[in-house]
Amino acid sequence: MIQFRTMLLAGVAAMSLAGAATSGSAWAEDIKEVQMLHWWTSGGEAAALNVLKQDLAKEGYAWKDVPVAGGGGEAAMTTLKAMVAAGNPPTASQILGYFALDYAEAGKLGDITELATKQGWDKSIPAALQKFTTTDGKWGAVPVNIHSVNWVWINKAVMEKIGGTEPKTFDDFVALLDKAKAAGVVPLALGGQPWQEATMFDSVVASTGGIDFYKKAFIDLDESALTSDTMKKAFDNLAKLRDYTDPNYAGRDWNLATAMVINGEALVQVMGDWAKGEFNAAKKVAGTDFLCYRFPGTDGAVIYNTDMFAMFDVSADRKAAQLALADATMSPSFQSAFNVVKGSVPARMDVPDTDFDICGKKGIADVKAANAAGNFVGSMAQNYAQPPAIAGAYHDVVTKFFHGEIKSSDDAVKELLAAIDAAK
Ligand code: GAL
Repeated sequence: MIQFRTMLLAGVAAMSLAGAATSGSAWAEDIKEVQMLHWWTSGGEAAALNVLKQDLAKEGYAWKDVPVAGGGGEAAMTTLKAMVAAGNPPTASQILGYFALDYAEAGKLGDITELATKQGWDKSIPAALQKFTTTDGKWGAVPVNIHSVNWVWINKAVMEKIGGTEPKTFDDFVALLDKAKAAGVVPLALGGQPWQEATMFDSVVASTGGIDFYKKAFIDLDESALTSDTMKKAFDNLAKLRDYTDPNYAGRDWNLATAMVINGEALVQVMGDWAKGEFNAAKKVAGTDFLCYRFPGTDGAVIYNTDMFAMFDVSADRKAAQLALADATMSPSFQSAFNVVKGSVPARMDVPDTDFDICGKKGIADVKAANAAGNFVGSMAQNYAQPPAIAGAYHDVVTKFFHGEIKSSDDAVKELLAAIDAAK
């Protein structure tokens, strides 16, 4: 692998040299620096990113950090857009789903196919993810992990105190939240930001209607599914969850909601497995201090979002660093070490689960099983089901409903359909 990279870099250097010779300009040396835009600013996220920084430092690459805080990456995507428009793209950017395809289609991504082919990435990465890393057979992004949104994270001591057991259905979940309420603990730790509410709604929809319904509504955008009684019921179920938050949930960052579960102030958070990165950072142990279950009623399905690094079309003197980043990211040992810390599971299917805790082992097994069964589906909230304009419309409607601006589930489904149609 290393040998190949050396060859590849030599090739890139030769190309640069040829360019310099014909243009008569001075020979530009490789810039030994990776400039990376990301939104990994919480404790768990920063710890995971450190694994990558250290790997690259070992290879002599400096790290130029471009952090843009804001869970879910909305603010980061605005900064990225401005950088690319100014002709000043980062070496790579954390990116989700359809955002990457937009940059690829606009010709803004570089081409790392040679490395991908040499290392056979297509054999270890699920086809569902390759839809987002490649365009017209060309690799322009690398997947660093697989997260999934349909999880619940529970403080074990609180669970024992209230005599709770694993909820298997949505109604069980509500009964469990009632128990916590009766015991005087905050039942549901929620960050009331549009992306967080929408992320939770992904799970509620899959739980209410089943995964085939989720696909029909969010992947196929089937009108009858979007406006069905099942979708209305999903909104009604979402409204039920509102009764279990604390009064200060509006605007709260996701990691502060996770902290409420970590310190026993709240029983449960519904959140993607980046929440586990926060438990890790707080030195909490899966199965001992906290419990992870699939969102009740979604067992067998994985609603994924994978963090990719989009490789921008950078100048020749920055390409060696970009290839080093891609190579490091795709190495099996890195995919294990990084994801153990991050809370996610490897994007590569050939990485052993040995170093993962019980939640990570379950996550890895779930991805494989769901992928084989056709139940590995993209998150609507996280830009893996539909392009950003439609995902944004979804965030708007869900949040308006959750905060009472849209009053009924009848209105919610009408507004959802109208907003999606307008965004198409
Ligand atoms: C997601 C991302 C995760 C995590 C989370 C909160 O969109 O995929 O890696 O960072 O946002 O910031």
